[in-house]
Amino acid sequence: MSLKSLLLGLLATFAAPWLLLIVRPYGSLASLAPVAYNEEAGDETKGFFPPTRSADQARGQQIYFAQGCAQCHTQVIRPQYVGGDGDEFKRNWGEAQEALAPKRTRQTSPYDYLGESFAAIGQRRNGPDLANGGFRFATRQQFLEHLYAPQARHEWSSCPPQRHLFKTRVIQGQPSRMAVFSQGKYAPGEGLEIVPSTEALDLVDYLLALRRNAPLPISLGGEKPAPAAPAASAPAAPAK
Ligand code: HEC
Repeated sequence: MSLKSLLLGLLATFAAPWLLLIVRPYGSLASLAPVAYNEEAGDETKGFFPPTRSADQARGQQIYFAQGCAQCHTQVIRPQYVGGDGDEFKRNWGEAQEALAPKRTRQTSPYDYLGESFAAIGQRRNGPDLANGGFRFATRQQFLEHLYAPQARHEWSSCPPQRHLFKTRVIQGQPSRMAVFSQGKYAPGEGLEIVPSTEALDLVDYLLALRRNAPLPISLGGEKPAPAAPAASAPAAPAK
């Protein structure tokens, strides 16, 4: 084999995957812009997809990256064709959701990551997928307590506590409404309270907003909304 064909072969071996896996997807995905819902096409939602983030949520996302949450948590709901039912919100996934009603949401789309300087797709699933993490806890306080002490809920949790995002201080006057763990094993002691920093509050704003429940516009392949089911107790509709 001549040196020339070896070099050409090497070039092709590296250039083909680069073109197909990097250049081509970049070309088609880099210029995505928000899409307007279209009532005439059958969309029932108004406005644009994806919904925009507030400034607090955007700051929270930066903290999410800075703290390395994406090392252990993904934000990808795989499509049904990858097997089983796909990933759509599994009630028992992560064991913490027995009390929550199962809720199916759509798979994620490239549009879900619009406007993110770094997409939170994540590296691997050491912890539960957080694409719908906003549904996991009912209140802001529960998110804050999870950040301060994940082991309070699950003793076995390997989710790293983010105590540097909180401050323990002497209660002055009224205790703070935001204080976490005023009682129990993690309580800070008589006369003290643990309060979240602005960073912790922004991060929780971001986590609460992780709800992929805005429907995909029909023009992007979203499903037409199912007609509302008649109420179970309603008398049968007269035949037309
Ligand atoms: C070392 C890996 C790791 C890192 C880094 C990590 N987590 Fe976790 N996380 C886990 C594991 C494992 C669980 C499941 C155990 C549990 O419920 O505490 C979890 C659970 C959670 C849950 C509850 C999810 C549910 O469905 O019950 C939330 C919310 C969460 N993590 C947020 C975060 C945030 C925010 C960060 C960054 C500040 C973070 N995690 C960083 C491993 C990690």
